[in-house]
Amino acid sequence: MPFTRDTIEKALQAGYAAGTAAKGGKNADYIPFLASVPSGLFGLAVVTADGQLFKTGDADFAFAIESISKVFTLALVMEAIGIDGVHDKVGADPTGLPFNSVIALELHRGRPLSPLVNAGAIATVSLVPGDSADARWAAILDCQSRFAGRGIALSDEVNRSEQTTNFHNRAIAWLLCSAGTCYSDPMMAVDIYTRQCSTLVTAADLATMGATLAAGGVNPVTGQRVIDARNTAPILAEMAMEGLYTASGDWAYDVGLPGKSGVGGGVLAVVPGELAIAAFSPPLNPAGNSVRGLVAVAAVAKELGCNLF
Ligand code: DON
Repeated sequence: MPFTRDTIEKALQAGYAAGTAAKGGKNADYIPFLASVPSGLFGLAVVTADGQLFKTGDADFAFAIESISKVFTLALVMEAIGIDGVHDKVGADPTGLPFNSVIALELHRGRPLSPLVNAGAIATVSLVPGDSADARWAAILDCQSRFAGRGIALSDEVNRSEQTTNFHNRAIAWLLCSAGTCYSDPMMAVDIYTRQCSTLVTAADLATMGATLAAGGVNPVTGQRVIDARNTAPILAEMAMEGLYTASGDWAYDVGLPGKSGVGGGVLAVVPGELAIAAFSPPLNPAGNSVRGLVAVAAVAKELGCNLF
């Protein structure tokens, strides 16, 4: 462990100051609940691969995980069907288009390319093992909980808000179905996908979830093995390529870490073998990434000298 507690504390404070100074952005409003979350909330957390937690600001505020859930369902499905199975059935390339793009599907004959865009995430959900919607949903919730090291729960309020406005995602699921790239009933897949986006996590939870990937698939707080060590590299590769959507290239160029964002305002970055950094702040930039979250996580990573490249 090359970082002392003092080094991490100092980086956390630098990240918090940088994030606080970052202005602009707007809460997501296409999901009505998200528009109502106070925009001033801002939390930052680091969890090391040996299980130490550092946090500041609103790091214990529970917010909607949204797209960050895609990483953990990808992990679950990779456990079930293998690295090649995911590659074959979903793909592993950036789309270069927004996270909910229909054009991206049309351009590739209905192949989603990445498990971290909406189409690929819905296809990934359709591959979750289980003989009923309830069994599949229970497996996803259990997986998020094992990554976080505590029981993660659905927010009925967020879920209701999403389920009553997710028409675009339903259209994507039917397009997948018509192309043969949805592997369950499409409306079941989109229902479960919507639920997986509607669980509540804190920045401290997210950092623990990321630290589990940093630690080769073992949750460093609980000591429980969550996924096969061999699966962490392709998951992190996917995060590096598509985790921040159309801003993934800028992020790789600037910060050089696998990352993932969600429209609830969460941002996660993983330093393999070392630690994970997570932030939460609701206002988003036009690509759908948290303005303060990006600045804060980047500042912590730079302060720690974590660029992988
Ligand atoms: O499917 C959706 O639109 C949302 N439930 C999640 C999207 C999301 O978080 C994209 N991230 N930046």
